[in-house]
Amino acid sequence: MSQDQRVAIVTGASRGIGRAIAERLASDGHHVIVNYAGSAQAAAETVKMIERGGGHAQAVQADVAEPDHVQRLFNVAIEAFGRVDTVVHNAGIMSNQRIDALDVEAFDRTMRTNLRGAFLVLGEAAQRLSQGGRIIALSTSVIAKAFPGYGAYIASKAGVEGLVRVLANELRGRDITVNAVAPGPTGTELFLEGKSDEQVAQLAKAAPLERLGEPTDIANVVSFLAGIEGGWVNGQVLRANGGFV
Ligand SMILES: NC(=O)c1ccc[n+]([C@@H]2O[C@H](COP(=O)([O-])OP(=O)(O)OC[C@H]3O[C@@H](n4cnc5c(N)ncnc54)[C@H](OP(=O)(O)O)[C@@H]3O)[C@@H](O)[C@H]2O)c1
Repeated sequence: MSQDQRVAIVTGASRGIGRAIAERLASDGHHVIVNYAGSAQAAAETVKMIERGGGHAQAVQADVAEPDHVQRLFNVAIEAFGRVDTVVHNAGIMSNQRIDALDVEAFDRTMRTNLRGAFLVLGEAAQRLSQGGRIIALSTSVIAKAFPGYGAYIASKAGVEGLVRVLANELRGRDITVNAVAPGPTGTELFLEGKSDEQVAQLAKAAPLERLGEPTDIANVVSFLAGIEGGWVNGQVLRANGGFV
């Protein structure tokens, strides 16, 4: 591997937006660690897709909310590819309960994966990234909408945006950028699950561009932030949503 070969870790890359990001970063020239929680076969498929395109990738199971799993994820990346330059923290779950339902278990589950997971992955990335590195976390554009039922999810992602801004300041002097990408409705399992065709159609029309986002729409933005052209963007939340504001 050449000295300037870049290496990326993408959490939650077995499907959806994470898979599109892993494929895009691979085609941009990264060697990619494809993280997943339980979907080993789907993660292996992401790796195969990257390899078919001439890239290099390895799947690694790790629960982003477990500190020893996250440490192992970075250890494997460094053992396999020698360094880590780009970390995309994409793994996330969605829950839909009104606040007055007081479903503490769903709240804790959402916070555990989305916020504790971001804290651990961003913290580990801050320790391990090479000079010139890039850290990108996935937030969501529904923060601005405050839809009923989205309390735990929005609270967790608002926390992610807070972590991103603080970490950008903590990494002063290391030439590492830290940003968030906040998609609008994007056609993945996370978005489609539990919604009627009518609800999906309504949300698809909500943006002035009048369609759902594709995972590749989001991967394009991550690619920009991870690339040379995005290097002056730091501590920002980039809302990629077709105008869903
Ligand atoms: N789709 C949207 O409309 C939308 C909009 C705004 C923001 N987002 C954000 O974009 C990100 C990706 O969403 P998506 O729609 O692509 O979701 P998705 O299709 O449901 O995929 C979620 C991914 O996260 C992984 N994951 C879940 N829990 C994990 C854990 N504890 N540790 C490691 N990996 C875990 C899953 O792995 P397994 O397959 O192994 O479980 C899967 O690869 C999320 O952060 C989401 O909040 C999505």
